[in-house]
Amino acid sequence: MKSSETSERLVHVPLGDRAYDILIGPGLIGRAGGEISTRIKGRKAAIVTDENVANHYLEALIDSLEADGIDATSLILPAGEKTKSFEHLTRVCDALLEARIERNDTVIALGGGVIGDLAGFAAGIVRRGVRFVQMPTSLLSQVDSSVGGKTGINTRHGKNLIGVFNQPDLVLADTDVLQTLSDREFRAGYAEVAKYGLIDKPDFFVWLERNWRDVFAGGAARIEAIATSCQAKAEVVVADERETGRRALLNLGHTFGHALEAATEYDSSRLVHGEGVAIGMVLAHQFSARLNLASPDDAERVETHLKTVGLPTRLSDIPGELPPPEVLMRAIAQDKKVTGGKLTFILTRGVGQSFVANDVPCSEVVTFLEEKHPQ
Ligand code: GLY
Repeated sequence: MKSSETSERLVHVPLGDRAYDILIGPGLIGRAGGEISTRIKGRKAAIVTDENVANHYLEALIDSLEADGIDATSLILPAGEKTKSFEHLTRVCDALLEARIERNDTVIALGGGVIGDLAGFAAGIVRRGVRFVQMPTSLLSQVDSSVGGKTGINTRHGKNLIGVFNQPDLVLADTDVLQTLSDREFRAGYAEVAKYGLIDKPDFFVWLERNWRDVFAGGAARIEAIATSCQAKAEVVVADERETGRRALLNLGHTFGHALEAATEYDSSRLVHGEGVAIGMVLAHQFSARLNLASPDDAERVETHLKTVGLPTRLSDIPGELPPPEVLMRAIAQDKKVTGGKLTFILTRGVGQSFVANDVPCSEVVTFLEEKHPQ
């Protein structure tokens, strides 16, 4: 990681001929044209974005691209998870072909995880692959989904079941855009930041415990936290790009989290992804303590920190009624492969000591959920 004269950070993802840079800092939308034109030959770009983001940033991005001689078209899609569909994939592919985007031209995903996943998928399949730049506009997408090359859409069979690994050519994470996020959205993204400390960076978790107020306030600490998160993710992705092992660690808290999202029918008024991950990470630490793998003090420490920043940490923090433990278990089993009554789970030996366990008995999970269930 290197720092420039400004507070900007650069994280390099060394993936051989698919290596790329992640730039993190203020004002990157205004400098996007320059950053892209020094790295990508084509003089055409197609911006894929959503209605909310377009209102704030599309014009500034087009101006920046055109100032550097890049001819830009744009496609504005509805905001929200439903946009990650075959229908919208078709729309994006048609728009790219209509705009005559060639292999050396660029698709720019300007938005959160939904836009990044959808536009990245389209960029990977149109003309068997065109250039692709991620410009993530939520904290969650800046620290997670824009890095690592997972792209795709949802189907009635589940989330992210159709897609390709398609690493971007560049990630431009403009930290100024985070100022328009609601407190709730920022906190939800922060759960994924804390996740990197809990996976294998205990010193980072200590740093967050001490500096979280500055991270929430913005400025240098926020940029530092995002850069450390991107660096942590890059290390995991470089070690296991296609998730045959270690990359699964990035799912810490997600097994319980996804089940809770499904149990609340993806109703964002009750629970958003990062909140599910926060509760899921606390449960993963408590479950590890229950299995005598970790000290209950670690689970308490994790809960205290996430609660202090204002995240939900318990099942009872979710508004409305939750389905019973067996139904939650069914949602977990749907998300994960179950073999002989056992499933793969990210467990921990303590803060910063997560590991992939392949043989967790479903019966233990149900008993644990019965203890934690509010009804
Ligand atoms: N968000 C998990 C991964 O990129 O593998």
